[in-house]
Amino acid sequence: MIDINHISKTFKRSNEKYTALVDVSLKIDKGDYISVSGLSGSGKSTLLNVIGGLIRPDAGEVIYKGESIYDQSGRFLNLYRKKDVGFMFQQFHLMPYLTVVENIGLSCYQKSHADAINDYLEKCSLVNIKDKYPSDLSVGEKQRAAFIRAIISNPELLLADEPTGNLDPQNSEILMTLIEEFHKKGGTVVLVSHDPTAIKYSNSNIKIGLGRIHIPAQTAAHLIPAFSLGIT
Ligand SMILES: Nc1ncnc2c1ncn2[C@@H]1O[C@H](COP(=O)(O)OP(=O)(O)OP(=O)(O)O)[C@@H](O)[C@H]1O
Ligand SMILES: [Mg+2]
Repeated sequence: MIDINHISKTFKRSNEKYTALVDVSLKIDKGDYISVSGLSGSGKSTLLNVIGGLIRPDAGEVIYKGESIYDQSGRFLNLYRKKDVGFMFQQFHLMPYLTVVENIGLSCYQKSHADAINDYLEKCSLVNIKDKYPSDLSVGEKQRAAFIRAIISNPELLLADEPTGNLDPQNSEILMTLIEEFHKKGGTVVLVSHDPTAIKYSNSNIKIGLGRIHIPAQTAAHLIPAFSLGIT
């Protein structure tokens, strides 16, 4: 479904350079549930943002259903971000001046999506706080609201950046069960996490260190494209 081919990304701030990704290649098939772990600063969020069409890499390609997403028009990228990808950000990024239900509404582009909001609010125990603003929510509530916003329009791919990073074990399990439901319905998941509670739900775990992917021997061979034998 997605081929990530030889991606590199270096951020430049005044005279400083921060290398986030070095020649990263990865294949994501429909229905995969891949977790990515690694030390802070190793490039996990950058990788997720590159896959999600949010950070243009310096080199390499992200091929989605045969199209190199960063070589397409702005309109293509907008539609990819809107329809194909659901993103749960490390810092939630809920809109502060919108209520829970209004934040979720931002992702709805068909009536059927809006019609499903109440069911999801119930499933995620958010019905009673649906008219609250993000600043008045607990961390677990914010994360569940961010989850609904990410999946309400049935994206093909859910990208979740440390979704349990700030949650207690009980809230972590609740959220991971919801992500697992999305996966079981045919969704594809890439999850960034250090949390063993979260990683155990994935089918394969990839380690990233200093911007390079380390694929454990036991990981499914399909994750390594034939042409990326150079990865360390
Ligand atoms: N916008 C940016 N400007 C400059 N440097 C950046 C930027 N974004 C990321 N970096 C740098 O790129 C590297 C990788 O960052 P990234 O956020 O991808 O790491 P991470 O693995 O997600 O870390 P964490 O576990 O702390 O979230 C780090 O050295 C970081 O400082
Ligand atoms: Mg990060």
